[in-house]
Amino acid sequence: MFIPLTLTGCLSTEERRGEAKEKDVYELSIAIDSQEDTVTGIFMNKFADLLEEKSKGRMKINRFPNSQLGGDGEITEAVQNGNIAFVVQTTAPQVSFVPEAAIFDAPMAFKNLDVARKVLDGELTEKLKEYYANKKLILLGYADQDFRVMSSNKKVEKMSDLKGIKIRTMENPNHIAFWKLVGANPTPMAWSEVYIGLQQGSIDAQENPIETIVASKVYEQQDDIILTNHILHTLCLIGSPSIINELPEELQKIIYEAADEAKVYARKMTDERNESRVKIIEDSGTKIIPFNEKLFNDMRAASEPVWKSLEEQIGKDLVNTLRSEIDKAEKE
Ligand code: MLT
Repeated sequence: MFIPLTLTGCLSTEERRGEAKEKDVYELSIAIDSQEDTVTGIFMNKFADLLEEKSKGRMKINRFPNSQLGGDGEITEAVQNGNIAFVVQTTAPQVSFVPEAAIFDAPMAFKNLDVARKVLDGELTEKLKEYYANKKLILLGYADQDFRVMSSNKKVEKMSDLKGIKIRTMENPNHIAFWKLVGANPTPMAWSEVYIGLQQGSIDAQENPIETIVASKVYEQQDDIILTNHILHTLCLIGSPSIINELPEELQKIIYEAADEAKVYARKMTDERNESRVKIIEDSGTKIIPFNEKLFNDMRAASEPVWKSLEEQIGKDLVNTLRSEIDKAEKE
Protein backbone atom coordinates (compact mmCIF):
# COMPACT_ATOMS: atom_id res chain seq x y z
CA MET A 1 0.00 0.00 0.00
CA PHE A 2 1.26 3.43 -0.90
CA ILE A 3 0.05 6.18 1.40
CA PRO A 4 1.85 9.51 1.85
CA LEU A 5 1.22 9.82 5.58
CA THR A 6 1.98 13.48 6.04
CA LEU A 7 1.44 16.02 3.31
CA THR A 8 2.41 19.63 3.76
CA GLY A 9 -0.76 21.67 3.36
CA CYS A 10 -1.40 25.20 1.99
CA LEU A 11 1.33 25.16 -0.61
CA SER A 12 1.15 26.12 -4.26
CA THR A 13 1.71 23.38 -6.81
CA GLU A 14 5.20 24.73 -7.47
CA GLU A 15 6.02 24.77 -3.77
CA ARG A 16 4.62 21.27 -3.30
CA ARG A 17 6.83 19.88 -6.03
CA GLY A 18 9.92 21.06 -4.21
CA GLU A 19 9.30 21.52 -0.51
CA ALA A 20 6.47 19.08 0.27
CA LYS A 21 8.18 16.16 -1.39
CA GLU A 22 11.03 16.49 1.07
CA LYS A 23 8.66 16.35 4.02
CA ASP A 24 6.20 13.64 2.97
CA VAL A 25 6.29 10.37 4.84
CA TYR A 26 5.48 7.34 2.72
CA GLU A 27 3.88 4.32 4.31
CA LEU A 28 4.67 1.17 2.35
CA SER A 29 3.92 -2.51 2.86
CA ILE A 30 6.12 -5.57 2.58
CA ALA A 31 4.69 -9.10 2.74
CA ILE A 32 5.96 -12.66 2.90
CA ASP A 33 4.20 -16.00 2.84
CA SER A 34 6.81 -17.48 5.22
CA GLN A 35 7.15 -17.10 8.96
CA GLU A 36 9.34 -14.34 10.36
CA ASP A 37 11.96 -16.70 11.84
CA THR A 38 13.28 -17.74 8.43
CA VAL A 39 15.90 -16.20 6.16
CA THR A 40 12.96 -14.88 4.11
CA GLY A 41 11.77 -13.05 7.23
CA ILE A 42 15.28 -11.83 8.03
CA PHE A 43 15.67 -10.51 4.47
CA MET A 44 12.31 -8.71 4.76
CA ASN A 45 13.11 -7.12 8.13
CA LYS A 46 16.64 -6.04 7.19
CA PHE A 47 15.38 -4.40 4.00
CA ALA A 48 12.55 -2.66 5.88
CA ASP A 49 14.92 -1.47 8.66
CA LEU A 50 17.36 -0.09 6.10
CA LEU A 51 14.60 1.77 4.24
CA GLU A 52 13.47 3.43 7.45
CA GLU A 53 17.01 4.25 8.61
CA LYS A 54 18.37 5.49 5.30
CA SER A 55 15.29 7.62 4.58
CA LYS A 56 15.44 9.02 8.17
CA GLY A 57 11.85 8.00 8.70
CA ARG A 58 10.49 9.29 5.40
CA MET A 59 9.61 5.70 4.53
CA LYS A 60 7.59 3.79 7.10
CA ILE A 61 7.41 0.10 6.32
CA ASN A 62 4.52 -2.07 7.48
CA ARG A 63 5.60 -5.71 7.63
CA PHE A 64 3.23 -8.60 7.00
CA PRO A 65 4.83 -12.04 7.57
CA ASN A 66 3.11 -15.42 7.73
CA SER A 67 0.64 -15.11 4.81
CA GLN A 68 -1.18 -12.23 6.55
CA LEU A 69 -1.81 -10.62 3.16
CA GLY A 70 -2.21 -13.93 1.32
CA GLY A 71 -0.16 -16.76 -0.11
CA ASP A 72 2.73 -16.33 -2.54
CA GLY A 73 0.48 -16.06 -5.61
CA GLU A 74 -1.81 -13.46 -4.07
CA ILE A 75 0.95 -11.22 -2.75
CA THR A 76 2.80 -11.29 -6.09
CA GLU A 77 -0.40 -10.22 -7.83
CA ALA A 78 -0.81 -7.44 -5.26
CA VAL A 79 2.69 -6.16 -6.10
CA GLN A 80 1.77 -6.16 -9.81
CA ASN A 81 -1.43 -4.25 -9.06
CA GLY A 82 0.30 -1.70 -6.84
CA ASN A 83 -1.44 -2.81 -3.63
CA ILE A 84 1.74 -4.02 -1.88
CA ALA A 85 5.11 -2.33 -2.40
CA PHE A 86 7.45 -5.30 -1.79
CA VAL A 87 7.49 -9.08 -1.43
CA VAL A 88 10.25 -11.60 -0.58
CA GLN A 89 9.70 -15.15 -1.80
CA THR A 90 11.40 -18.00 -3.58
CA THR A 91 11.25 -18.06 -7.39
CA ALA A 92 9.11 -21.24 -7.64
CA PRO A 93 5.74 -19.45 -7.23
CA GLN A 94 6.94 -16.58 -9.44
CA VAL A 95 7.06 -18.88 -12.46
CA SER A 96 3.26 -18.42 -12.88
CA PHE A 97 3.89 -14.68 -13.32
CA VAL A 98 7.37 -14.62 -14.91
CA PRO A 99 7.89 -17.98 -16.69
CA GLU A 100 11.61 -17.16 -17.13
CA ALA A 101 12.09 -17.49 -13.36
CA ALA A 102 12.08 -21.25 -14.12
CA ILE A 103 15.74 -20.78 -15.04
CA PHE A 104 16.38 -21.63 -11.36
CA ASP A 105 14.86 -25.08 -11.97
CA ALA A 106 18.01 -25.92 -13.95
CA PRO A 107 19.43 -28.77 -11.86
CA MET A 108 23.06 -29.20 -10.78
CA ALA A 109 23.78 -25.62 -11.84
CA PHE A 110 25.97 -24.42 -8.96
CA LYS A 111 28.64 -26.45 -7.18
CA ASN A 112 28.68 -24.19 -4.18
CA LEU A 113 27.17 -20.99 -2.81
CA ASP A 114 30.13 -18.92 -3.90
CA VAL A 115 29.48 -19.79 -7.55
CA ALA A 116 25.71 -19.38 -7.11
CA ARG A 117 26.00 -15.94 -5.52
CA LYS A 118 28.42 -14.67 -8.18
CA VAL A 119 25.94 -15.76 -10.84
CA LEU A 120 23.02 -14.17 -8.98
CA ASP A 121 24.88 -10.85 -9.02
CA GLY A 122 25.73 -11.02 -12.71
CA GLU A 123 24.40 -10.80 -16.25
CA LEU A 124 21.69 -13.43 -15.81
CA THR A 125 19.94 -11.29 -13.21
CA GLU A 126 20.31 -8.19 -15.41
CA LYS A 127 18.46 -10.06 -18.17
CA LEU A 128 15.83 -11.40 -15.78
CA LYS A 129 15.11 -7.83 -14.63
CA GLU A 130 13.65 -7.12 -18.08
CA TYR A 131 11.37 -10.15 -17.95
CA TYR A 132 10.13 -9.12 -14.50
CA ALA A 133 9.62 -5.53 -15.71
CA ASN A 134 7.49 -6.81 -18.60
CA LYS A 135 5.23 -8.38 -15.99
CA LYS A 136 4.95 -5.18 -13.91
CA LEU A 137 7.47 -6.29 -11.28
CA ILE A 138 10.81 -4.75 -10.28
CA LEU A 139 13.42 -7.41 -9.52
CA LEU A 140 15.43 -5.90 -6.65
CA GLY A 141 17.79 -8.80 -5.99
CA TYR A 142 18.28 -12.43 -5.07
CA ALA A 143 19.54 -13.94 -1.82
CA ASP A 144 19.29 -17.65 -1.05
CA GLN A 145 18.44 -20.14 1.61
CA ASP A 146 21.27 -22.44 0.53
CA PHE A 147 20.69 -25.46 -1.70
CA ARG A 148 18.02 -28.10 -1.76
CA VAL A 149 19.85 -31.24 -0.65
CA MET A 150 18.79 -34.86 -0.48
CA SER A 151 18.00 -36.77 2.71
CA SER A 152 17.71 -40.55 2.52
CA ASN A 153 17.48 -43.85 4.36
CA LYS A 154 19.52 -45.51 1.60
CA LYS A 155 23.26 -44.88 1.17
CA VAL A 156 24.07 -42.52 -1.71
CA GLU A 157 27.78 -42.34 -2.48
CA LYS A 158 27.68 -42.60 -6.27
CA MET A 159 25.11 -42.07 -8.96
CA SER A 160 24.24 -45.76 -9.33
CA ASP A 161 23.11 -45.68 -5.65
CA LEU A 162 20.24 -43.41 -6.70
CA LYS A 163 18.70 -46.17 -8.78
CA GLY A 164 15.09 -46.77 -7.74
CA ILE A 165 15.23 -44.61 -4.58
CA LYS A 166 11.71 -43.41 -3.87
CA ILE A 167 12.25 -39.71 -3.36
CA ARG A 168 9.46 -37.30 -2.55
CA THR A 169 9.56 -34.22 -4.80
CA MET A 170 7.45 -31.14 -5.28
CA GLU A 171 4.85 -31.14 -8.08
CA ASN A 172 7.33 -29.55 -10.48
CA PRO A 173 7.78 -31.15 -13.91
CA ASN A 174 11.42 -30.06 -14.20
CA HIS A 175 12.27 -31.49 -10.77
CA ILE A 176 10.47 -34.75 -11.54
CA ALA A 177 12.23 -35.08 -14.91
CA PHE A 178 15.58 -34.48 -13.21
CA TRP A 179 15.15 -37.18 -10.56
CA LYS A 180 14.10 -39.68 -13.25
CA LEU A 181 17.21 -38.84 -15.28
CA VAL A 182 19.53 -39.58 -12.37
CA GLY A 183 17.82 -42.95 -11.89
CA ALA A 184 15.61 -42.27 -8.87
CA ASN A 185 11.89 -42.83 -8.56
CA PRO A 186 10.40 -39.35 -7.95
CA THR A 187 7.15 -39.36 -6.01
CA PRO A 188 5.36 -35.99 -5.84
CA MET A 189 3.57 -35.58 -2.53
CA ALA A 190 2.24 -32.77 -0.34
CA TRP A 191 4.93 -31.44 1.98
CA SER A 192 2.67 -32.01 4.98
CA GLU A 193 2.71 -35.77 4.29
CA VAL A 194 6.47 -36.18 4.02
CA TYR A 195 7.35 -36.81 7.69
CA ILE A 196 4.81 -39.58 8.04
CA GLY A 197 5.66 -40.95 4.58
CA LEU A 198 9.28 -41.37 5.72
CA GLN A 199 8.23 -42.79 9.07
CA GLN A 200 5.97 -45.39 7.43
CA GLY A 201 8.48 -46.15 4.68
CA SER A 202 6.23 -45.22 1.74
CA ILE A 203 9.15 -43.03 0.60
CA ASP A 204 12.91 -43.46 1.17
CA ALA A 205 14.07 -39.93 0.65
CA GLN A 206 13.12 -36.28 0.18
CA GLU A 207 14.93 -33.07 -0.79
CA ASN A 208 14.84 -29.60 0.79
CA PRO A 209 17.20 -26.98 2.20
CA ILE A 210 18.89 -27.85 5.52
CA GLU A 211 16.86 -25.13 7.28
CA THR A 212 13.59 -26.77 6.18
CA ILE A 213 14.86 -30.24 7.03
CA VAL A 214 15.51 -29.07 10.59
CA ALA A 215 12.36 -26.92 10.98
CA SER A 216 10.18 -29.88 9.92
CA LYS A 217 12.26 -32.39 11.93
CA VAL A 218 12.43 -34.58 8.81
CA TYR A 219 16.04 -35.47 9.76
CA GLU A 220 14.59 -37.53 12.63
CA GLN A 221 13.32 -40.01 10.03
CA GLN A 222 16.45 -40.10 7.85
CA ASP A 223 19.84 -41.81 8.17
CA ASP A 224 21.77 -39.43 5.93
CA ILE A 225 21.65 -35.89 4.61
CA ILE A 226 23.61 -35.89 1.33
CA LEU A 227 24.93 -32.49 0.27
CA THR A 228 23.89 -32.86 -3.37
CA ASN A 229 23.44 -29.09 -3.90
CA HIS A 230 21.09 -29.99 -6.75
CA ILE A 231 18.91 -26.87 -6.84
CA LEU A 232 19.42 -23.46 -5.25
CA HIS A 233 16.66 -22.21 -2.96
CA THR A 234 16.50 -18.64 -4.20
CA LEU A 235 15.03 -15.77 -2.22
CA CYS A 236 13.83 -12.97 -4.45
CA LEU A 237 12.94 -9.41 -3.44
CA ILE A 238 10.47 -7.80 -5.83
CA GLY A 239 8.89 -4.35 -5.85
CA SER A 240 5.92 -2.66 -7.42
CA PRO A 241 6.81 -0.26 -10.27
CA SER A 242 3.57 1.67 -9.91
CA ILE A 243 4.55 2.49 -6.31
CA ILE A 244 8.33 2.77 -6.53
CA ASN A 245 8.44 4.87 -9.69
CA GLU A 246 6.09 7.44 -8.13
CA LEU A 247 8.36 8.05 -5.13
CA PRO A 248 10.78 10.99 -5.01
CA GLU A 249 14.04 10.09 -6.76
CA GLU A 250 16.16 10.10 -3.61
CA LEU A 251 13.83 7.53 -2.00
CA GLN A 252 13.96 5.36 -5.11
CA LYS A 253 17.75 5.41 -4.87
CA ILE A 254 17.54 4.33 -1.21
CA ILE A 255 15.33 1.38 -2.19
CA TYR A 256 17.95 0.01 -4.60
CA GLU A 257 20.79 0.57 -2.10
CA ALA A 258 18.84 -1.06 0.74
CA ALA A 259 17.96 -4.05 -1.46
CA ASP A 260 21.66 -4.63 -2.21
CA GLU A 261 22.66 -4.41 1.44
CA ALA A 262 19.77 -6.57 2.69
CA LYS A 263 20.58 -9.26 0.12
CA VAL A 264 24.19 -9.50 1.35
CA TYR A 265 22.99 -9.63 4.97
CA ALA A 266 20.45 -12.39 4.20
CA ARG A 267 23.19 -14.49 2.59
CA LYS A 268 25.37 -14.09 5.68
CA MET A 269 22.47 -15.16 7.89
CA THR A 270 21.89 -18.23 5.71
CA ASP A 271 25.49 -19.29 6.33
CA GLU A 272 25.30 -18.69 10.08
CA ARG A 273 21.96 -20.44 10.52
CA ASN A 274 23.14 -23.42 8.50
CA GLU A 275 26.08 -24.00 10.84
CA SER A 276 23.76 -24.29 13.84
CA ARG A 277 21.29 -26.51 11.96
CA VAL A 278 24.02 -28.86 10.77
CA LYS A 279 24.99 -29.26 14.43
CA ILE A 280 21.38 -30.14 15.38
CA ILE A 281 21.35 -32.84 12.69
CA GLU A 282 24.73 -34.26 13.70
CA ASP A 283 23.82 -34.28 17.39
CA SER A 284 20.74 -36.35 16.52
CA GLY A 285 22.90 -39.08 15.01
CA THR A 286 21.80 -38.45 11.40
CA LYS A 287 24.93 -38.26 9.23
CA ILE A 288 25.82 -35.36 6.94
CA ILE A 289 27.49 -36.74 3.81
CA PRO A 290 29.77 -33.99 2.43
CA PHE A 291 29.59 -32.57 -1.09
CA ASN A 292 31.10 -35.08 -3.54
CA GLU A 293 32.39 -33.51 -6.75
CA LYS A 294 32.26 -36.76 -8.76
CA LEU A 295 28.63 -37.41 -7.76
CA PHE A 296 27.80 -33.78 -8.58
CA ASN A 297 29.42 -33.97 -12.02
CA ASP A 298 27.73 -37.28 -12.85
CA MET A 299 24.34 -35.91 -11.82
CA ARG A 300 25.05 -32.74 -13.81
CA ALA A 301 25.83 -34.71 -16.97
CA ALA A 302 22.68 -36.84 -16.57
CA SER A 303 20.48 -33.78 -16.11
CA GLU A 304 21.36 -32.22 -19.49
CA PRO A 305 17.92 -33.06 -21.04
CA VAL A 306 16.24 -30.83 -18.42
CA TRP A 307 18.48 -27.95 -19.53
CA LYS A 308 17.52 -28.63 -23.17
CA SER A 309 13.86 -28.68 -22.20
CA LEU A 310 14.33 -25.35 -20.37
CA GLU A 311 15.71 -23.89 -23.61
CA GLU A 312 12.34 -24.69 -25.15
CA GLN A 313 10.37 -23.45 -22.15
CA ILE A 314 12.10 -20.10 -21.64
CA GLY A 315 14.48 -19.60 -24.57
CA LYS A 316 18.08 -20.44 -25.38
CA ASP A 317 19.40 -17.02 -24.50
CA LEU A 318 18.72 -17.27 -20.75
CA VAL A 319 19.92 -20.87 -20.55
CA ASN A 320 23.13 -20.01 -22.43
CA THR A 321 23.66 -16.98 -20.20
CA LEU A 322 23.35 -19.23 -17.15
CA ARG A 323 25.82 -21.71 -18.64
CA SER A 324 28.41 -19.02 -19.44
CA GLU A 325 28.00 -17.24 -16.10
CA ILE A 326 28.58 -20.54 -14.27
CA ASP A 327 31.71 -21.20 -16.34
CA LYS A 328 33.00 -17.74 -15.53
CA ALA A 329 32.22 -18.00 -11.80
CA GLU A 330 33.78 -21.47 -11.49
CA LYS A 331 37.05 -20.17 -12.97
CA GLU A 332 37.27 -17.08 -10.74
C1 MLT B 1 8.58 -28.44 -0.32
O1 MLT B 1 9.47 -29.25 -0.55
O2 MLT B 1 7.38 -28.69 -0.53
C2 MLT B 1 8.92 -27.09 0.24
O3 MLT B 1 10.25 -26.78 -0.04
C3 MLT B 1 8.68 -27.11 1.72
C4 MLT B 1 8.51 -25.71 2.24
O4 MLT B 1 7.73 -24.96 1.65
O5 MLT B 1 9.14 -25.34 3.23
